[in-house]
Formats: sequence, structure tokens, C-alpha cells
Amino acid sequence: MAYILATGGLGFIGSHTCLELLALGHEIIIVDSLINSSKETLNKINEVLEFRGISAINRILFKKGDIRDLVFLKSVFQEALVNNKKIEAVVHFAGLKSVSDSILAPINYWDVNLSGTINLLNLMDKYNCRKIIFSSSATIYKPINSKLIKENSDLNPINTYGNTKLAIEKLLYDIYKNGSTKWAIVNLRYFNPVGADRSGLIGENYNINSNNLFPILIKVANRKLDSLPVFGNDWPTKDGTCVRDYIHITDLAIAHAKALNNVLQKNKEFLNLNIGTGRGFSVLEVIKKFKEVNDCDIPFHFLPRRNGDAPFVVADNSLANTFLKWEAKKSLKEMCLDAWRWGRHKTKSSI
Ligand code: NAD
Ligand code: UD1
Repeated sequence: MAYILATGGLGFIGSHTCLELLALGHEIIIVDSLINSSKETLNKINEVLEFRGISAINRILFKKGDIRDLVFLKSVFQEALVNNKKIEAVVHFAGLKSVSDSILAPINYWDVNLSGTINLLNLMDKYNCRKIIFSSSATIYKPINSKLIKENSDLNPINTYGNTKLAIEKLLYDIYKNGSTKWAIVNLRYFNPVGADRSGLIGENYNINSNNLFPILIKVANRKLDSLPVFGNDWPTKDGTCVRDYIHITDLAIAHAKALNNVLQKNKEFLNLNIGTGRGFSVLEVIKKFKEVNDCDIPFHFLPRRNGDAPFVVADNSLANTFLKWEAKKSLKEMCLDAWRWGRHKTKSSI
């Protein structure tokens, strides 16, 4: 089992991944500034593990800090070394992820996402830790409308957030290509992660400005919003609404565990992998399923198309299936059930 650093490990994807890595027996140090998460998640991870009959008490360490703070981040690597616990690989989630905020605050987005990553990579190099799984996004692809997206499809992000993700991928490729040191790098390009752990104890921090589909669905189901705006009913899709590849967060977390296993066994590697289910659902199909399985009312109304949307964004996930020996197992029904199990308990102020 390995000693792993998880940046942003208390966030939505980080917390579910840490849970699965701890369940497999790995030891983890989480670095998180808590800008979009809470320390309470640490207790919840332990609670879920206890429920599964697993103890992680001495296998999880938390350090609050910002990855842009070089002195802080260096102390994390140094302390591990002093304790004879060399960090073997990094799962790098820390970053800002809102498309709309990124357009409003581009300097901040470039600073957190890119400067933070450069700090991290500098230290990894210095401490001979050259294995990394990076949280990339399907948002870096140029929309191709009806075909499944492959890893070699055209890239063309159309917003600041996507630009930062593509820049980091390019930086990682330059590092890989440079022959002086050997790096094992996997960019996981997530499609639409949704849902929550089955326990309902951990999930996504839906903040007040979340404008993704599932946070809005939860808001309507919680009667914090009267009706769900559906952006466009005139797209060239099966029912006129946009189609996306929603993936259950636990399937995504397991993909990280497999990718980690892969980099731990490799000295030099560079992989881009689509992490999606390969199946697309329209907005209306998601609303219907959510209503049906959660027995709740989801009023909706149509609005014009949202700027920047594409009709059909679905992964060809065959590379990930092959390389990682992984496949997404959970259905849209489980995504809707688990999202609501988590979301229905959210405090009134946050959702
Ligand atoms: P999240 O906001 O829930 O998690 C990110 C975590 O990083 C949070 O706990 C936050 O407090 C922490 N963080 C942010 N800036 C930091 C900094 N400077 N230093 C230390 N910690 C910091 O987001 P998430 O949904 O879990 O996403 C994780 C990663 O995956 C992000 O890089 C995101 O861009 C990427 N991603 C997410 C999605 C998605 O739909 N959720 C899709 C594609 C890619
Ligand atoms: C969005 C971002 C993408 C980012 C991803 C994950 C845009 C254009 N894309 O993807 O860059 O990687 O989130 O954070 O912002 N929808 C509604 N009504 C709503 C909300 C959404 O109809 O109130 C529709 C959207 O038009 C879309 C689908 O639901 O067709 C999914 O939307 P969303 O959850 O925001 O994800 P993406 O747009 O795929």
C-alpha cells in the first residue's frame, strides 16, 4: 500500500476518492484550504469507513493550507520525509471549478489552478515524487455535437476554467517529454460527476451560486426554487434538450484508485483518459428519472439556450476501460437516489 498526497482531498471528488483509497488500505495525507469544503468531511469519511468495518484512524492526516503557499506545501513533503514516509504519488484535485466565476475572476482562476499546480510540481520534483493523477475535464474538448468524444478529439476550451485545465495538461506533457527525469502522469478528463456516497454522509458542497444541473434539481426538490430552468428545447437531440454523460461519483472515485494503481507500477507514462459512462441522458430524461425514483415534484420551464452549451457531450470511455480495467457501474437511478439522499439534508442556507 502507498503513501499518497491528495490535494483538495476534502472536496466533492477528493473526499469520495480518499474514501475508496483508504478502503483499499492506502495511507493518505490531505492538503486542503477548505475554501470549498469543511473539516467535518474528515469525520464523515471515518464514519463511512467504520460503517464498512474499516479503521483508518492512523492512515489519514489532514493539513489545512493553500497549495499556492510554497513554504506550507514544502513543510508537508519535508515532514513526511522526516517521518520516513516518502510521498509516493499525488492525486491533485485542488482547484477552482466554476465556469461562471472563472469568467468573472480570470486572474484568480489562473493563480489557483496554474500557480498552485506549478508549486506542487516543483516540490514533487524536488522530493523525487513523480507520479500524479490530475483532475482534468471534458470541458477542454471542442464540442462535436453528435459523436462520442475520444481522447484525440479536437481540444478547444471556450472559457477561462477550461483554459486553465488545458494549460495544466500541456505543462504536464512538457514535464513528461523532458528526458532528465521520469514522470508517470494520468490526466483524468471527467465528464459530469454527480451523486454522492450511498451513505449520504459525504457529497458535493452545493454553494449558493452552483448552476450545474444537479444542484439546481436539489434546490427545486427542496422547494428553494419554484421551477427548474431548462436551457433550450430546440437542440438537435432526441427530445430537444442537451445530452450529457453523467457519472456516479463513486464510479469516478474507483477510476482514481485504478489510475493510482497504474502510475504506482510505472516509471514513465503519460495518459489522457475520458472518465464517463459512455451513455448520454437528456435534461428531460434526468428530470423524469429524478422525480420517479425520489417521488418528488420537479416543476420546470424552458428558457433559451445557455451560452457555451453544446447539444451532446458523451465520452468514448474505451481507453479507460482498457488501460484501467475499469467500467462505470452505477445507473442514472442510483445517481438520482444518492444525490437526493445527500441533498435533502442540506441546510436551507446552502441550497
Ligand atoms: P471541490 O470544490 O468540491 O473540491 C476542490 C477542493 O480543493 C476543495 O476542497 C477546496 O477547498 C480545495 N481547494 C481549492 N483551492 C485550493 C488551494 N488553492 N489550495 C488547497 N486546496 C484548495 O471540486 P470537485 O468537484 O471535487 O473538483 C475537484 C477537481 O476536479 C477540480 O480541480 C475540478 O476543476 C476538477 N473537475 C471537477 C468537475 C466537476 O464537475 N465536479 C469536472 C471536471 C473537473
Ligand atoms: C458545466 C460546464 C463545464 C464543467 C461542468 C462541470 C458550462 C457551459 N459547462 O458542464 O465546463 O466542466 O459543468 O462543472 O457551464 N441545465 C439546465 N438547467 C440548469 C442547469 C443545467 O437545463 O439549471 C442543463 C445544461 O444546459 C446542460 C446540462 O443541464 O445541458 C448539464 O449542465 P451542467 O450540470 O451545468 O454541466 P455541463 O454544462 O455539461
